[in-house]
Amino acid sequence: MIAKQFIDIKSPLTDEVIGKVPAMSREDVDEIIQRAKNGFKIWRDKPLHERVEYLYKVAELLLEHEVELTSLLIKEVGKDQKSAKSEVVRTADLIKFTADTAKNMHGQNINADSFPGGNKGKFAIIKHVPIGVVLAVSPFNYPVNLAASKIAPALVSGNAVVFKPATQGSLSGSFLAKLFIEVGLPEGVLGIVTGKGSQIGDYIVTHCDINFINFTGSTEVGNHIAKEAKMVPLLMELGGKDAAVVLEDADLDLTASHIVGGAFAYSGQRCTAIKRVIVVNEVADALAEKIKEQMKKLKVGNPVEIEGTLDVVPLINEGSADFVEGLIEEAKIKGAKLLCGGERKGNLITPTLFDYVTTDMRLAWEEPFGPVLPIIRVNSEEEAIQITNASEYGLQASVFTTNMHRAFEVADKLEVGTVQINNKTERGPDHLPFLGVKSSGIGVQGISYSIEAMTRIKSTVINL
Ligand code: NAP
Ligand code: G3P
Repeated sequence: MIAKQFIDIKSPLTDEVIGKVPAMSREDVDEIIQRAKNGFKIWRDKPLHERVEYLYKVAELLLEHEVELTSLLIKEVGKDQKSAKSEVVRTADLIKFTADTAKNMHGQNINADSFPGGNKGKFAIIKHVPIGVVLAVSPFNYPVNLAASKIAPALVSGNAVVFKPATQGSLSGSFLAKLFIEVGLPEGVLGIVTGKGSQIGDYIVTHCDINFINFTGSTEVGNHIAKEAKMVPLLMELGGKDAAVVLEDADLDLTASHIVGGAFAYSGQRCTAIKRVIVVNEVADALAEKIKEQMKKLKVGNPVEIEGTLDVVPLINEGSADFVEGLIEEAKIKGAKLLCGGERKGNLITPTLFDYVTTDMRLAWEEPFGPVLPIIRVNSEEEAIQITNASEYGLQASVFTTNMHRAFEVADKLEVGTVQINNKTERGPDHLPFLGVKSSGIGVQGISYSIEAMTRIKSTVINL
């Protein structure tokens, strides 16, 4: 493959070109997928104990490159140093845990005579076998972790992988993928396709030799892919509008601390960020004040100028900042009370808190993917549940109350994949099930769940 065109990757922090990736053509994609198809035939026949060794080596290599990859993440997706380093270490742990988990996953043996009329000499031996060529598509905000969370379980299950990183994140994602290749994966087993999703994405997704699509990204693109992909099995983690439901018996200091951490880390550019606070009137004044106080501790700045920990950094691009600014302006026009923030310097938006946000405002429903948090006041627990469930999204929610019976009762009524009780919403640790319902996704990620999702059952029935 000789790339004819390249895409310059600029840092969102400095606007300097920090690298370039090939803008691949359809012919390039065909070649990479064909190689994956060929590589699959060799890779699937390797014993599991051999496949897991590749993952252990990649995890080691990743840690050896921690400093270099941390620096690249800072420059490419604007993460602060602490978050960038955490993503690299977390990913090495994820890859190791995936290898450990795979070694301990087993098939089944089902006897026919447990069913009326079934005879004793008949039994099924059930194995999990690889599906074929998995297309792994990752988003910009965790370009290493959300690449490995697809690539590692897919490979350890015996699949070949074609990896399409987000363009803004493709240097970091490709860095990780190349480590898999460096440890000696057979030719073609892992291929990297770079290029703008809007230009080459549909061709890859609809390619006849793609057997599974594992996608993380926006609901808009996810919906589009689902329509294009037809019968190809999908695993999708999409957008969110995670609610923090706060009841009158909550510990408000703990609640405020979790809400601020959950809403503003990495400028709220996390699918699992807390993106709305739904609080009963009795404690709304006190909570709003405590959140505002906690927000004063947020560290705001540009990671190339300030080392260490920063909570709020410049957003990934101008379009994202424009979108967030639009939500802020509309909330102001419609009468929401701005408690702090609301300013913009370039693509950096200061941590913004609105009170008295009402359901006629876009901010109540749309995913900002930015540092702006609405407080929605309600009269009762029932109303809080109703508004939480009225969202098109259903990724996660938090419930803050000191009454655990009540916490479980509320949790059971929330139409989301995961409910955090007295904690911010979050995906980690990465072996827990992670899923979205409604417009937040299809299927379940999380190490053992991802391994299972990217295999299929093969049943061999013995008739003695
Ligand atoms: P995005 O714009 O949807 O892009 C996601 C990926 O899809 C990128 O690799 C993109 O490539 C690719 N893509 C775009 N159009 C495509 C097409 N037609 N066919 C195939 N691939 C295509 O999302 P993002 O801006 O990177 O990430 C932010 C969004 O992802 C937010 O909505 C966030 O909530 C969601 N997200 C969800 C989770 C979760 O686990 N639920 C985690 C992280 C992020 P290009 O970059 O080249 O366009
Ligand atoms: O948006 C990416 C998602 O995976 C966030 O992960 O652990 O920060 O909630 P986490």
